Amino acid sequence: MLFFLDTANLDQIREAKSLGILDGVTTNPSLMAKEGIVGEQKVYEHYKNICEIAEGPVSAEVISTDYEGIIREGKILSEIDENIVVKVPMIRDGIKALRWFSNQEISTNCTLVFSAGQAILAAKAGATYVSPFIGRIDDISWNGVELIRQIANIYAIQGFDTMILAASIRTPLHIVDCAEAGADVVTCPLNSILGLLKHPLTDIGLEQFLSDHRKLNS
Ligand code: G3P
Repeated sequence: MLFFLDTANLDQIREAKSLGILDGVTTNPSLMAKEGIVGEQKVYEHYKNICEIAEGPVSAEVISTDYEGIIREGKILSEIDENIVVKVPMIRDGIKALRWFSNQEISTNCTLVFSAGQAILAAKAGATYVSPFIGRIDDISWNGVELIRQIANIYAIQGFDTMILAASIRTPLHIVDCAEAGADVVTCPLNSILGLLKHPLTDIGLEQFLSDHRKLNS
């Protein structure tokens, strides 16, 4: 399972990269706004900077919602760097655009997916990745991880190549559950990844080893 960082923050991308566990990055307009990146040119420059650090797939989201606009934006984004993945919303014109990008061999990420039916459509349209938002599903007391399991099962039965990119990850347990449910990728905040490190018995055991070592070597 690949680890993507869900952020537009360059320091966090550098930190994940330095840990040696970073496979790629996903962004969205809200994450770009959080970093204060405004204006078309600034946004494009920021994607270029992210690509230089990440050295892996970087999802860049279109703002247009009509077919021509999505294609125009997607072409510009895909020319920023060979690792750019054009992120397209799960809407009617988005599906049509996914097929066009797929025919041009431009990588895509179909975002804002909340059902198995939408995931089937994304795969049929040739999306490279499909992004079910599991945290937002949990927010309305449905089960996000179960959706990942259902999509993984359907894609396996049908032989779809589209990769399942579990998004809207909120906790370390989401990552573990997505791994078990068959996600190909998880995209997470850095804190959720770092949370995987934690276990009290690791801390207690390490303290004991170091203390025993000190006793004999002091
Ligand atoms: O990758 C999608 C993600 O950015 C949405 O996360 O926490 O806003 O639901 P969240």
